[in-house]
Parts: sequence; C-alpha cells; structure tokens
Amino acid sequence: MSTARITIDRDFTIAEVPRRLFGSFVEHMGRCVYTGIFEPGHPQADSRGFRRDVLELVRELGPTVVRYPGGNFVSGYLWEDGVGPVEKRPRRLDGAWHTVETNAFGLHEFVDWAREADVEIMEAVNLGTRGVEEARALVEYANHPGGTYWSDLRRKNGAEDPFDIKLWCLGNELDGPWQIGGKTAQEYGRLAQETAKAMRFVDPSIELVAVGSSNRQMPTFGTWEHTVLSHAYDEVDYVSMHAYYQEHDGDAASFLAEAVDMDAFIDGVIATIDAVKAAGKHTKQVNISFDEWNVWYQSGLDTEDQPHVITAAGQWREHPRLIEDTYNVTDAVVVGTFLNSLLRHGDRVKIANQAQLVNVIAPIRSEEGGPAWRQSIFWPFARVAQLARGRVLRLAIDSSPVSTKRYGDVDAIDAAATWDEENGTIALFLANRSLEEAGDLTVDLHGLGAASVRSAEVLTVPEGGDRKAANVVDDQDRVGLVPLRDVDIVEGAVRATLPPLSWAVVVLEVARA
Ligand code: AHR
Repeated sequence: MSTARITIDRDFTIAEVPRRLFGSFVEHMGRCVYTGIFEPGHPQADSRGFRRDVLELVRELGPTVVRYPGGNFVSGYLWEDGVGPVEKRPRRLDGAWHTVETNAFGLHEFVDWAREADVEIMEAVNLGTRGVEEARALVEYANHPGGTYWSDLRRKNGAEDPFDIKLWCLGNELDGPWQIGGKTAQEYGRLAQETAKAMRFVDPSIELVAVGSSNRQMPTFGTWEHTVLSHAYDEVDYVSMHAYYQEHDGDAASFLAEAVDMDAFIDGVIATIDAVKAAGKHTKQVNISFDEWNVWYQSGLDTEDQPHVITAAGQWREHPRLIEDTYNVTDAVVVGTFLNSLLRHGDRVKIANQAQLVNVIAPIRSEEGGPAWRQSIFWPFARVAQLARGRVLRLAIDSSPVSTKRYGDVDAIDAAATWDEENGTIALFLANRSLEEAGDLTVDLHGLGAASVRSAEVLTVPEGGDRKAANVVDDQDRVGLVPLRDVDIVEGAVRATLPPLSWAVVVLEVARA
C-alpha cells in the first residue's frame, strides 16, 4: 500500500476557479457535427436536426464554453458558406480532413445549438487562407446590432439580435506544416496583431486568443510564442496551447504520469509570456487558453475503417469516421490528472477545451441512426466541471512515488482541490497512478471546522475487467463512477483508501474554524 498526506489550508489558494477551464470543442471534422450533435432524420432529432440524446449528454457533461468550427478545418473555411438559406449553401472540399463539407450546419445553427446546450461560444477565424477583412466582417456579422451590410445580412438570415460572441481565436495551429496556409512566426505575429486590431475596432469588448505552438515538440516551440507575442502582446489576451497524449508501447506508468509534461509545458509558456511582458515593459497580463487537450491515440490514425486523410486520397466522403478513439479506465485516470494540472495552473490558464465533444476523440459517442453514450473519460470531466467552484486550493502533497521510464519518480497520488466558501464545500479530485498498489490517503484540513463527507465516488477497473475496460456500443456502462466506501473524518483529517489505478472525487462539507 502506498501512502499520501495532503494538507489543505484555507488561506492558501491559487485563484478563483476559472469556469472556462471546462471547455470543449466542436470541429467540422469526422462525425463531430454531422451525426454527432446534428443529424436531421434521427429519431431523437428536434425540428432543427439537433440530436436530443446527445444534447442531454452534453448538458450532463457540463462544458462551459465550446470552441468552433476548428481546428485545422477553420484554416480553409469560408464562414459565409455556412449562413443563409441551406439549399443555397455550397458543397466544398475540406482539405484539412479530406472531406466533403455540405455546409448544412453553420454559424446560426451553432449559435442555436450552443443556446440549447447552455455553453458560451468560442469562435475561431480563418487566418490560414484568409485575413483581416474576413475576420472583421465576421465580427460585424455576429456582434453588430444592425444598420450595416454584414449585421443586416445576419438579420435577414433570421437572427435579429446579435450573437454577442466574446471569445475569438485568431486562427489555428499556424506553426504546423500540415496547416492550410501555415505561416512563420513573423508572418503570423504581424497578421494576428493587425487582425486583432481590426476585429476590436468593430467590437472593443471581445477577447482574443493568439495561436501558440501546436505542441511542445514543435522545433519552434518557445521562439514561436516569443516572436508572435513580441508583435501582438498588446492586442491579445491569451496565447493558445495544444497537447495530446497517448500510451506508448504498453508503458502505462509513463502514460499515467503525463500530467508532469503538461505542468512543465504550461510553466514554459508562462515563462515565455512573462519574458515578453518584461522586455516590452507591458503592464497588462496575457494568459493561457489551453484550447486543445486530451488523450489521442495518434499512432492509430491509419485503420481500415478510419483511413487517415492522406491514404484516403481519392475517396472524398461526407462526415467519415475519423479518430473515434475508444477510451478505457487508464485513459480516464490520465484525463483526471490533466484536469488537476489545469486547476493547479488556474492563476494563468483561464480557458481550456477538451478536444473534442462528440465522436472525434470525445467523451461522448453516437452512432448514425443509433444510440449515444458516455466514454470513460466523460466521468472525470463531468464531475470536475460540476464541482470545481470557488477557489482553487494550493495543496501540500507528500506522496509515495511510482517510478516511470519517462519521468523518473512521480507522486503516486495526484490531487487538486477547490473550496466553495459560499456553499461550505471542498471538492477533492484524486488520482491513484499506481497500477498495483492501493493508496492510503490522509487529508489534513487546516483552518477549516468540523467536516463531513457529502459524497465520495471512484472510477476504477470494473469487476472482472482490466485497465483497458471501456464503454462500447454494446456495453455502454461498463466503466463509470461507483461509491468510494469508508471515507471517514478522523481527528479533523479525511481518511480514505484509493484503489490501484483510480480517479476519485470526494466532496466535504466544512465550516470555517
Ligand atoms: O482535434 C483534432 C485536431 O488536432 C485539430 O483539428 C487540430 O487543431 C489539432 O491538430
């Protein structure tokens, strides 16, 4: 049995919980939009074609903000194609995912869907094939009340009131050689600066995200952020981060420790932002939008039923199956640790989007004409989005180690916690990374009075299963949350035992001492 002692002190906090940390992402990719959130003709579809069964799961998952419409897709997208009478919308080739885009779903449909799902919209503009003009036109179309060409076109298209979209991404992954219209840091930095200015001339209230590196392994990581911000620091509010992780060669121990990499990646971007801030004598603070993160089995891209875009050349299809990863228990525990990393950095990471929402590397799966269900990774996201409120607590953690090939010794128990003073609750988010040993946990509560356990749940290997157990169409509830038994308060400390390979959430009711 490994052991961990966590000390909570009500005076040691990191930040208000940034509620936008629990964001998601809908890209026109594979079956995220078509047969994911939108499937006219499905028995569960409403009159607009929104799948009610998927919407219900989205509401249960609880994302606060959803990025749209891409992703790589946005770098070749003409937003005007997706507005106006559906029968007049053009069919286009989407080069990013080698797909035929019908444009049956566009901005108005997304705005309506987002209202139903009760999420904020994070809209990305195309800075791959397009520039300043089309971006400022889109802001005018979306946010200007009326009396001008673009705002009146929106009204003509059925939306009298502005959409009032606050959050905008200045393109996507433009450092990547795979990106349509990729750029050097110099080219992008200047374009981002000028586009941001022009968009803000239309609506000064918007918030803007500059594109950071596509991942930490990019050869230009660091210098890209530095150059881009050297141009655009004053014009933007956030710089983006993207990261995907997977298990390599059966090395589950290293995979379970990937949040160590995520922590270091975030710290590196913070250091770069602050270096530009200091050198430029800027006073305002640029923060981070971690607007793509997840587990993604990228090495499994090329399969027969989900051919990779390149090998699929010649077979242009509508909404093909693309990267529909099936997630298991191990993946869910890793996702729990990523959410902990984001919370621990809540002072600087203000937005984060798990990529994506439905079917495409997603917590929710759906079949065309068939059912929708929750993947294993649904559970940590749903509980953290629901329960992380108030302030993020700065924890002192003293844990037994687990040894890993990639990261050396790491804490067996990974944790984050939030304190909702108004409601008198503490939420503890815990992961046991050890594959073999249970974790004997003690949580000291300093400065907090009598506590009781309101709820305690755990996700772990199901009976008769193994660490690869997953929810699939014919067995949709194999992996989920079950009660975590025997969580006690002993002399002002919480005592619990976490099963090997598990993610747990414990909610305490506390009073100020
Ligand atoms: O989320 C899938 C893809 O991953 C996105 O389109 C792109 O931005 C990233 O490379």
